[in-house]
Parts: sequence; C-alpha cells; structure tokens
Amino acid sequence: MKKTGLFYGVSTKKTALIGKEIQEAFGEDKADIVSVEEAGKNEFERYDNLIVGASTWFDGELPSYWDELLPELDSLKLKGKKVAIFGLGDQEGYPENFVDGIGLLADFFESAGAQVVGLTSTEGYTFEGSRALRDGKFLGLALDQENQSDKTSARIADWVKQLKKEFA
Ligand SMILES: Cc1cc2nc3c(=O)[nH]c(=O)nc-3n(C[C@H](O)[C@H](O)[C@H](O)COP(=O)(O)O)c2cc1C
Repeated sequence: MKKTGLFYGVSTKKTALIGKEIQEAFGEDKADIVSVEEAGKNEFERYDNLIVGASTWFDGELPSYWDELLPELDSLKLKGKKVAIFGLGDQEGYPENFVDGIGLLADFFESAGAQVVGLTSTEGYTFEGSRALRDGKFLGLALDQENQSDKTSARIADWVKQLKKEFA
C-alpha cells in the first residue's frame, strides 16, 4: 500500500489544527503526521505521497520553520512521488500575497522532481495576487481562517476526496 506523509509545523496554531483535520478526513491511519520542525531528507523520501502545508507570513514568505528546512533539503530526490499542498492565508489582510506559500512550496517540490497534485479552483475567493496560481488555479488547497473559516471543513472534505483519486 502506498504511504502518505502529512508534513506541517506541529507547533503552529492554525496550521496544526488544519493538519489534524486533514488527517481525520483521510481516516486516522491513512496519513502519518510528520513535524516539519523535526523532519529531514529521510522523512520526505520515505513516503510515496506527500501532503505539505504552511501558512504565509511576512508578506508572501514561508514561516521560518519551512524557510530554515528547505535549504537543508537541496539534494532531495522525489522523482515518481506526488505532492499535494495546503496553505493558510488571509485574503482581506494580504490580498496581494494570498497564500503565496503554496506557490513557494510547489516550486521547491517540483524542482526536487515531485509531481504537484490537488490543484483547486479560485472560485469563492477574492484577492489581487498570489504566487499560488498556475493557469488560473491554485497549486493546492487555499484556506482562510480569518475570513472564511465557515468554508474550511467542506473545502477539506472535497480536497481529500480529490486526493484519494489523484494519489491512487
Ligand atoms: C505578520 C503576518 C504576515 C502575514 N502575511 C500573509 C501573507 O503575506 N499572505 C497571506 O495570505 N496571509 C498572511 N498572513 C495570514 C496568516 O497566513 C494566517 O493568519 C494564518 O492562518 C496563520 O496560520 P499559523 O498561525 O498556523 O501560522 C500573515 C499574518 C501575519 C500575522
């Protein structure tokens, strides 16, 4: 059976709650949670499918725990693996950099050879610019706990359903 690793900063506030919710949507033992604060190359290479998550901070940057880890993963080889990305952001507070972190993670994992799956529509969001876009779609799941927390559960449920097909 293919193994899925769910990577995010477990010491964060909102991202950690969302990560748990995604794991529950998969069914408890279908995705292992791996703390990004502790992860190294081996953890990423151990899984067939990766789910990676981050909020966006500092006007369009990744939070520091991802920022510190990525340079350490420069020789990571993920050819043949799939990666799905979720990101938290605030489309009213940061409309020009909404969930930029999704795009930054997509660039990184693609350059390591992985295929990005789990792209979603921008319908229902209002913002001006985002590095998370490619051909008019988000390169992952965009969640906005500041302005649209009421939509989060349904967005996660739809996305996990999509991933179960795309990861197969
Ligand atoms: C200082 C600061 C900068 C932020 N910059 C951005 C940003 O550039 N783009 C965005 O979409 N959200 C931005 N946000 C919103 C956060 O991504 C959002 O609040 C997220 O839910 C935080 O999750 P976390 O607590 O797990 O890190 C920013 C928030 C703060 C406090």
